[in-house]
Amino acid sequence: MVFRSRMLNLLTFCGTACLLSACGSSTTATNPDKSTGSRAADAAAVSPYKPTATFQEIMDSIVDPSSDVIWEAVSTTVDAKGIHEKQPHTDAEWHEFRRRAILLVEAANLIAVPGRRVAKGDKSVEDGAPLREISVELVAAADNKNVAAVTDLGGALDEVCESCHKVFWYPELAQNSATR
Ligand code: HEC
Repeated sequence: MVFRSRMLNLLTFCGTACLLSACGSSTTATNPDKSTGSRAADAAAVSPYKPTATFQEIMDSIVDPSSDVIWEAVSTTVDAKGIHEKQPHTDAEWHEFRRRAILLVEAANLIAVPGRRVAKGDKSVEDGAPLREISVELVAAADNKNVAAVTDLGGALDEVCESCHKVFWYPELAQNSATR
């Protein structure tokens, strides 16, 4: 039964898609110059997503504050009074850490929503996969209360941020420092 209803959904989807493509081709025939625009408009019309916040707002509201909690969760400070180790101890503290990792997992999907463009160059970032993969591992580290993994993954997370920023945020800067 489940299979049958999936098939029906698929058929309904095909019906809609075929109708849309028929509309698209008739527009192309009568008005060739606008064919690309109308296809983009069709895609926007069928998408269930409405990217509203800017890419920069997602970084500022979700990605940056969540990763700060993750980076600050485990640390060692040395001062005149000795060595101070900081790490989550209680279930509540680990749960708080896990919440931030979940925010990062789903932020990876949010940044990849079609139509969410970066300010410079009108580009879309299609691949949130590296951020998602590392964040899924951070969730597992919270579940296992694994302090060593949190430290290692924190370094890997930083590399994920940086490697995307070099391409999509400040490519000129990355290029200059590479040639220096
Ligand atoms: C897949 C790409 C990608 C990943 C991964 C990514 N960023 Fe970004 N980030 C961007 C882009 C692109 C911008 C610039 C946004 C724009 O210009 O529209 C940006 C901007 C920012 C900003 C500036 C926001 C502001 O208010 O101006 C901060 C802070 C930031 N990112 C932090 C992070 C951190 C921390 C991580 C990792 C945990 C991260 N980003 C991961 C692409 C990414």
